Amino acid sequence: MTSKTANSMWGGRFAEGPDAIMQAINASIAFDQRLYAQDIAGSRAHAAMLAATGILTNKDAEAIGEGLLTVLSEIETGKLQFRTDLEDIHMNVEARLKDIIGAPAGRLHTARSRNDQVAVDFRLWVRDQCDAAIAGITALMGAFLAQAEAGADWVMPGFTHLQTAQPVTWGHHMMAYVEMLARDRGRFADARARMNECPLGAAALAGTSFPIDRHMTAKALGFDRPTANSLDSVSDRDFALEFLSASAMCAMHLSRFAEELVIWSTAQFRFVTLSDKWTTGSSIMPQKKNPDAAELLRAKLGRIMGATVALFTVMKGLPLTYSKDMQEDKEQVFDAADTLMLALAAMTGMVGDMTANRAALAAAAGSGFSTATDLADWLVRALNLPFREAHHVTGTLVALAESKGCDLPDLHLADMQNVHAGITKDVFAVLGVVNSVNSRLSYGGTAPVRVREQIARWKAALAG
Ligand code: ARG
Repeated sequence: MTSKTANSMWGGRFAEGPDAIMQAINASIAFDQRLYAQDIAGSRAHAAMLAATGILTNKDAEAIGEGLLTVLSEIETGKLQFRTDLEDIHMNVEARLKDIIGAPAGRLHTARSRNDQVAVDFRLWVRDQCDAAIAGITALMGAFLAQAEAGADWVMPGFTHLQTAQPVTWGHHMMAYVEMLARDRGRFADARARMNECPLGAAALAGTSFPIDRHMTAKALGFDRPTANSLDSVSDRDFALEFLSASAMCAMHLSRFAEELVIWSTAQFRFVTLSDKWTTGSSIMPQKKNPDAAELLRAKLGRIMGATVALFTVMKGLPLTYSKDMQEDKEQVFDAADTLMLALAAMTGMVGDMTANRAALAAAAGSGFSTATDLADWLVRALNLPFREAHHVTGTLVALAESKGCDLPDLHLADMQNVHAGITKDVFAVLGVVNSVNSRLSYGGTAPVRVREQIARWKAALAG
């Protein structure tokens, strides 16, 4: 099966058109139409530069610039029907431009190739997504900060191995995510700064013999500078891979809090109540309130990681410079970006709407012998025991409490003194969870004063 005519953009040496299946595997317009605004912006910058350098007449460049705006509005109002036989967004836009302005449209592609064209379009798109990710992460940081501020000194159990470890504060736990998200934000900012070089003007791969001004197009498109090696310019997709990698890291962080929410919202934990807005019911079990949003957020990393692995695999071993393999970059990045933005928005909503159950957190904070370390530390400080010995004495006291079915603060002084004669009633002061968290004053520790300092620092940073 062949379509009758050869491609009007490159079909000069072709007697017949591509097989229909070739068209199906080759065409990217179904997805790269998302790059229409970037494609038109890139072409307008290119045309203006061609006029400024005398490569095109002002008249032709103006017709091209105006015509491209018409194409833009036709696309935005849904008037332009994309054609699969024109392969991609670049040729669809140019063909429509030709319909509108006629002959001068054929001069737009002077000193340019689809190789540098797609590189600049895609960079512009990914750059916008970095900005969107930074904004989305900042909003989520704000939601965690608000939670931290509301419960800066609320006690809860801190876990290692998901076993009760030491009491911590709710504010401290929320602020842990602010730190993680701040690193994510930094990764997107770093990637954005690195990708902000303009590949336009690299042409097919070797540069061009026309006297173009790459600094001018770079500036017009908001890039810091043109890329410095034309071969690298058309073959580089590091910017997309960095975006995917940063997205995967961020989604991994979201999945960790999502998992905590799934656990915390169970009847067994009851640490948080998720709002009705972010949960669903069961069609058979009337009591259920399922944390579906949290579960989906826990899963989204799989998808983003899949995209990351897919694009690394596409790029692996590709010889310089452009190969059509690279057309497989876009769907992965589009899907990962959509997934990340949705995930950030959902997590921001869910964190903002969740209610921490202060009483349940406090009750859990005191169970599981959570102040055993405080007891051991007290033995070191008050009785000057070596820590190893203090650890052993405390272990014996924990076993004693366990056998009596009580918590450490419920032990009688006499029973404690049977384990170590030096213990005095002062020990009870360190067995309470509030004292425990208040004592963790080291920089970065869980004491409410330290937590409030971090909240203030981050609030100022987000405001500034
Ligand atoms: N649709 C192509 C892509 O996304 C554009 C570049 C095509 N270049 C080429 N020489 N065929 O990669």
